[in-house]
Amino acid sequence: MDKIRILGNHDLQLKGKVKISGAKNAVLPAIAASLLTREKIRLKNVPLVKDVFTILTLMKELGAEYHIKKNSLSVQIKKIRFEEASYELVRAMRASILVLGPLLARHGKAVVALPGGCAIGSRPIDLHIHGLEKLGALINLEHGYIQAEARRLHGKEIEFDKKTVGGTENLVMAASLAQGETILKNCSLEPEVANLCELLVKMGAKIDGIGQETIQIKGVEELGGATHEIIPDRIEAGTFLVAGALTRGNFTLSHMQPDHLDTVIEKLRYSGAKIERLNNHTLRVIGSPQIRPQDVTTSPYPGFPTDMQAQFIVLMTQAGGRSIITETIFDRRFSHINELLRLGASVEVFGDKAIVKGKTLLSGAETIAIDLRASASLVLAGLIASGETIINEVEHLDRGYEKIEEKLKSLGAPIQRIKDEEKG
Ligand code: EPZ
Repeated sequence: MDKIRILGNHDLQLKGKVKISGAKNAVLPAIAASLLTREKIRLKNVPLVKDVFTILTLMKELGAEYHIKKNSLSVQIKKIRFEEASYELVRAMRASILVLGPLLARHGKAVVALPGGCAIGSRPIDLHIHGLEKLGALINLEHGYIQAEARRLHGKEIEFDKKTVGGTENLVMAASLAQGETILKNCSLEPEVANLCELLVKMGAKIDGIGQETIQIKGVEELGGATHEIIPDRIEAGTFLVAGALTRGNFTLSHMQPDHLDTVIEKLRYSGAKIERLNNHTLRVIGSPQIRPQDVTTSPYPGFPTDMQAQFIVLMTQAGGRSIITETIFDRRFSHINELLRLGASVEVFGDKAIVKGKTLLSGAETIAIDLRASASLVLAGLIASGETIINEVEHLDRGYEKIEEKLKSLGAPIQRIKDEEKG
């Protein structure tokens, strides 16, 4: 497995410009949506990250043909050849669950492995299953698989007990081909959900309330092909903004969508970073030598994203004082803290809270990453830790960040990837 090596220092200053890639969490449901039609779906601004190739492997097993050229992808399933998403694939990527709704809607049958737990918590899928049952699906859970059948789904009013991004996406896709009208209440407001709805409308779906908590879908007989642009990755952009705030950097981020990051920008400005909007798709970040501590609580969009929690903790290790970071979305999303402690951070965890004491000068060490955003936080910490930091098992990082070490290197970071000798 590849490693990343960083020769960080306390005075590193990142400068230059970085181009933000398309959003992993928008392209995955968009690829799953191609199951809903026998025509071709063309996606632009696709990030070439590991999770994209994982879901394309699954789609190929289901009968898809696809073609990638640079950051454009075309995918087409003329006929569903197979209806099972194996445990091996679902274990590799929980978002495989997003094929459940579209498979049921188009093909009437789906067998999807239960995702099980992962590094950031239990992550059940009860809300997906209850929602699909309300649309008329017959679902059995046995031998670690979801066995689902539905001759024809029918519209229903459904209210989610809690906000679920994947649950909202699965139900919107399933309802698009159901008979009659579906009203979904307490939907997630994440921009990736709206981006998916916009694709479905281009395919012929009848959806009102895009970007709202209540979404109405009038089912249609069939959906057609479409061409669609994937929105920029707000979490990649947020990660680079933190890198700028951490390193007293001065650089621009282009091809992004600043208004998807209001809460993160607000918190970073409060911490002392200067963030200037150069135009609708470009920000400049200028880090400050003094970083102000502050308490942050993660919450569903438009609140502070849980996917930015690990990165923000690293920033607070450099703040002059104590910060309390509360994680309300996942029940075990502090795995990065043990590794940060090895770099010299001072963080204590009490339940859903991490108490961060700053400023602590970090020193480089060998570390291991066990989930995507935890890996990102180790890279950030390595930039400002004195000496060498090695991050093992970077395939976690590669799941959601396109060429992150090349992008950081172009900003002046002393970072390199060490290829796994076995792979050659
Ligand atoms: C999406 O995961 C994102 N992944 C996650 O990003 C992100 O952290 C999360 O939304 C934020 O809510 C993708 O979009 C591919 P949820 P998802 O359903 O859909 C509970 C990253 O790093 N829940 O919104 O799986 C669940 O346990 C990843 O890019 C149920 O209880 O998350 C969690 O506590 C990590 N029952 C909360 O809801 C269900 O049926 C939010 O989960 C579904 C979810």
